[in-house]
Amino acid sequence: MIRMSINTEVRPADTEGIARAAELLRQGELVALPTETVYGIAADARNGEAVSKIFVAKGRPQDNPLIVHVTGPEMLHGLVSEVPERAQLLMAAFCPGPLTIIMPRGPEVAAECCAGLDTVGIRMPSHPVARAVIEASGCAFAAPSANLSGKPSPTNAPDVFTDMDGRLPLILDGGECDWGVESTVVSVVGEKPTLFRPGHITLEDLERALGEEVEVSKAILEKLPEGAVVRSPGMKYKHYAPKADVTLLDGTFEQFKAYVDAHAAEDPSCLCFTGEAEKLGVPCVEYGREGDGADQAKHIFRSLRALDEQGDAVVYARCPQKDGLSMAVYNRLIRAAAFRVIKL
Ligand code: TXA
Ligand code: MG
Repeated sequence: MIRMSINTEVRPADTEGIARAAELLRQGELVALPTETVYGIAADARNGEAVSKIFVAKGRPQDNPLIVHVTGPEMLHGLVSEVPERAQLLMAAFCPGPLTIIMPRGPEVAAECCAGLDTVGIRMPSHPVARAVIEASGCAFAAPSANLSGKPSPTNAPDVFTDMDGRLPLILDGGECDWGVESTVVSVVGEKPTLFRPGHITLEDLERALGEEVEVSKAILEKLPEGAVVRSPGMKYKHYAPKADVTLLDGTFEQFKAYVDAHAAEDPSCLCFTGEAEKLGVPCVEYGREGDGADQAKHIFRSLRALDEQGDAVVYARCPQKDGLSMAVYNRLIRAAAFRVIKL
């Protein structure tokens, strides 16, 4: 089958750009735009045909549900069937911001968003461009990250263009994203609140706001056995993966350097912390300061893309901490590494 390629326009996210984005959304078309976490591909969440185009543009498996974006709780009517008390606490503490709350689904959300689930992920972005597009269009929009399925999420417009050229009509360029990893996903349906994806809002932040323990979905920090039931489908895919074979090495810098030196015959490259490249003596990409989860989160996806641009084949990566904000970085990195972690 021959598919007509779409002409993809990149425009600044100014008043005219936002008006054009709103027009396209109302017409059932796709628009890539910045949020405070990563860039997303938006479509009117009430329009099933429009939402289907997202799956085609990304090459995304149909069983992976999308997040619906609104400006505030006043837009939730019809999108959720109920706003549980825990959701109210979380919204009061963190919205607008980098948090997605899984709630019981309402009748107006296109079935295509929810992959057959009776829940829907709701997010209230703080980014002025995402908010302006919702306001100008009047549309709650469904939006996944704006990468080809399986690739690192894009944190700037040129990276969106690399993946989406010819696949959608408009990319709004709003500069670099502030946070760099996708929103924290937490479910408030079911008996206990459950963290499905770690992000800038940490487990500790959620527990403080809710005043209770939050369960951590097993899939966050380890590979699930084949056939295990995953309550948040996105966690089961190989993800964020550069073309190289990435292995995480869990240990000190000295142990890391010794391991890389011992494997010089493989001609490896390294994904390391800021300031370490010059000490390693092989091609390196740095991804943030050691122990600084926010800095690592901001740079991790661009760094994974940089590995691809360098054409590296074997990559050894420094392992971040597994708690606090670094939990989000560790979660993305073990997927980029197809769960290959070596304890030094
Ligand atoms: O920061 C973000 O959340 C970005 C920006 C664009 O808003 N969006 C994003 O969407 O990361 P996406 O589609 O790349 O990731 C959505 C994640 C997936 O892991 C998906 O499985 C999970 O959220 N998810 C969505 N709806 C769900 C639901 N009803 N139940 C469980 N998990 C859900
Ligand atoms: Mg994604």
